[in-house]
Amino acid sequence: CGIIGILGEHSAAPLMVEALRRLEYRGYDSAGIATVHDGVLGRRRAVGKLGALADLLVVDPIQGRSGIGHTRWATHGKPTVANAHPHRSGPVAVVHNGIIENFRELRAELEGKGHTFVTETDTETVAVLCAQNLADGLPPIEAAVATLKRLEGAFALCFLFEGEDDLIVAARRGSPLAIGHGEGEMFVGSDALALAPFTRRITYLNDGDHVVLTRAGAEIFDTDGAATDRPTKTVALDNMIAEKGEHRHFMSKEVHEQPEVLSYALQHYAGPGRDRIEGAADAVDFTGTDRLIMVACGTAFYACQVAKYWFEQIAGMVVEIDIASEFRYRNPPLRDSDMALFVSQSGETADTLAALNYCKGKAGSIVSVVNAMESSIARASDAALPIHAGVEVGVASTKAFSCQLTVLLSLAIHAGRTRGHLSAADEAQLVSRMFELPRLMNEAIATEPQIAKLAQWLAGARDILFLGRGLMYPMALEGALKLKEISYIHAEGYASGELKHGPIALIDENVPVIVFAPRDALFEKLVSNMQEVMARGGRVLLVTDAEGAEIARHGTAEVLVMPTVDPRLAPMVYAIPAQLIAYHTAVTKGTDVDQPRNLAKSVTVE
Ligand code: G6P
Repeated sequence: CGIIGILGEHSAAPLMVEALRRLEYRGYDSAGIATVHDGVLGRRRAVGKLGALADLLVVDPIQGRSGIGHTRWATHGKPTVANAHPHRSGPVAVVHNGIIENFRELRAELEGKGHTFVTETDTETVAVLCAQNLADGLPPIEAAVATLKRLEGAFALCFLFEGEDDLIVAARRGSPLAIGHGEGEMFVGSDALALAPFTRRITYLNDGDHVVLTRAGAEIFDTDGAATDRPTKTVALDNMIAEKGEHRHFMSKEVHEQPEVLSYALQHYAGPGRDRIEGAADAVDFTGTDRLIMVACGTAFYACQVAKYWFEQIAGMVVEIDIASEFRYRNPPLRDSDMALFVSQSGETADTLAALNYCKGKAGSIVSVVNAMESSIARASDAALPIHAGVEVGVASTKAFSCQLTVLLSLAIHAGRTRGHLSAADEAQLVSRMFELPRLMNEAIATEPQIAKLAQWLAGARDILFLGRGLMYPMALEGALKLKEISYIHAEGYASGELKHGPIALIDENVPVIVFAPRDALFEKLVSNMQEVMARGGRVLLVTDAEGAEIARHGTAEVLVMPTVDPRLAPMVYAIPAQLIAYHTAVTKGTDVDQPRNLAKSVTVE
């Protein structure tokens, strides 16, 4: 989805349509704008491509030099005019990307005060809450700020007010937002590309910032509400097209995008009540399946390894996983009652495609989880499920991984319910917790300055060991893979129970040991493995939550504190430190992060 806001000198409507066109690459199926003209708030929305909105504006024009606009890609709520943004309540209009976690509570509270709602969307709740704050006597800026204070989740928002020709309030929490500086004009948009027709002078908001925009300029406030300055850069058009934005590397951009793309993916797989998996997952029928076989390469294979735990525990299924280059030549016996599931970001990996072709006519059904829906793997499958990660440029996969996990977990939940292994109440709990993930991932990203410092230590190592148990075992493998791919430091991931069977021989003070240990059922066991390492002089970086840090901090070299998360969902949160440790170690070493030597983004040869 895309956001644009304009306080300009010319009619805003056609300019907003032009800006939204530049955000078309994000995908959408309805669009809308709101403007203020002579103090009057007006709105136009249309289903379909931007051409439909432009046509509407011909027959039903809207004036005003101030406005906000949005493109929406329907997730649950259908692509109808009523569901399209901007949402409006009385004197306030709102456009929004992301997830408001606590909208149900807010909505109940507002209904108690006599408000009625016309949609099921969380965005409408934001508009109504802000309108209530205005009705309570707050002026517009204060009303928007008071609204923001009540919201939980990861999102980007813009507010426009009746009677205010020279004001937009915008906020960034987990979804990107950039400010554009014109001559006596100001702009705000999802990224610099949307602002390219108007200005090259861009200020990127920090996470948690909100901004009060007038034609005179932008006043930026940080998470604590303190006025703050953020640097303004002149962005070259090339960079805008390549879309690296404020980031030095695509990998960094893609790591930071994860709360946004994950929330987007999630909304395609969960129902509007956020208590049930439905939508894209319904394309797969697990009821006649005895055995699930998952096959992939690289990072996508580790996503399968995480998913094996989910399908076993949530759906009670027999699951086998394999790397494609092994599977394809082993002639594994297959039955009609098997489902073969392939995971591939590109959908073009040669070994994965060959493994799929081997399964054709042997397995009962062939399903794929892909980022590229036009790819060979998607086309060769009975059902192809999109991960909605958007284009991934960095060779080392990051956002595709967390979106693969989101889709695979959704499928495991769908399988659990349809196979009678998961109650509606358990499903509701799990799905509602998935909606907390964008915020939790954002909190994990906030540890980046500490990780950047830690990288000084790690960059000097020759070998690094990653340890985990249960769901954290594949995360240890992924952490090691990321690190070796881009920093060229030798790294190994191990199930920590295997430590005694070999790798402990490697331990000395020169081998950093990174332990992924959320406070889950296996935590105590992991801590005793960690103590075995420390007893031999090993230096441990413990990645855990606040409770885990409290218990196990003693004797470690460093502790990185992650937000507390339902243990079943920990892989999405712990993916962030796995990626950022690799990234900052590589940056410290000065390697080519986005295009590491010898590696290809998509391996289309054997
Ligand atoms: C290459 C990339 C990895 C990726 C793997 C599988 O090795 O460097 O990041 O995980 O291919 O790619 P796929 O497109 O099938 O997910």
